[in-house]
Amino acid sequence: MTPDELKAPKGMTKQQQDELKQEAAKQAAAMVQPGSVLGVGTGSTVKFFIDALAAREQSEGLHLKAIVTTSSRSQKQLEGYGFTVSELADIGQADLIVDGADRVDANLDGIKGGGGALTLEKNVAVNCKKNVWIVDESKVVTHLSGFPLPVEVLPISASHLFTKFEAAGLEPAYRTQADGSKYITHYGNYIIDLGVSPLPIPAGLADYLDHTVGVVEHGLFLNLCDEVLIAHSDGTIEDRKR
Ligand code: 5RP
Repeated sequence: MTPDELKAPKGMTKQQQDELKQEAAKQAAAMVQPGSVLGVGTGSTVKFFIDALAAREQSEGLHLKAIVTTSSRSQKQLEGYGFTVSELADIGQADLIVDGADRVDANLDGIKGGGGALTLEKNVAVNCKKNVWIVDESKVVTHLSGFPLPVEVLPISASHLFTKFEAAGLEPAYRTQADGSKYITHYGNYIIDLGVSPLPIPAGLADYLDHTVGVVEHGLFLNLCDEVLIAHSDGTIEDRKR
């Protein structure tokens, strides 16, 4: 499946979902402290966050010490607004990262990587004091389910890993681009999406993937998120903290 097919909203139109994403994004932009080091994630919700951040910058001047981001897409948008983007290696810890998520469960654990940026996202996430996710209500679940788990793999190991995941009942499928060719990540790797749902024991699966040779990173983000802003269709924004 392509990233767009993966992300098609369930139970609401894309326009309704975009309106909710925009509300959560605006609230997150209000959380950014002037003079801080900010992490900016990836995805359509984060795109609205960058718009709202730029509006704040223009109206009050945030004087951010540094900004680091998790994809060239977000970098391009930030630079288009005149922000300077630093490399993760060149900053210390960020004070806050605002990112989207594909699913978030009752423990604030999540699946990320629908946009293919999971490796840099996880590396930035672990180097931030506070991780805030912005989502619409369709992404909130009790147990992680309803969205395939992205696994970034080295091309040389991909076919062996695919067979291994198949044998383990994890229902693998290669991520593809619109022309049907394999999706290539920022780091030149493939993504295998694991379709099994709900995810069997996320902590066990994360441990298995962390110890599988050829796996570069996976989209299980456990114990990383501190706070989620959930935009509901009744117009409220729920602020859930760990
Ligand atoms: C990219 C991600 C995104 O944050 C996630 O896919 C959510 O994206 P969107 O806001 O477009 O629904 O993890 O790798």
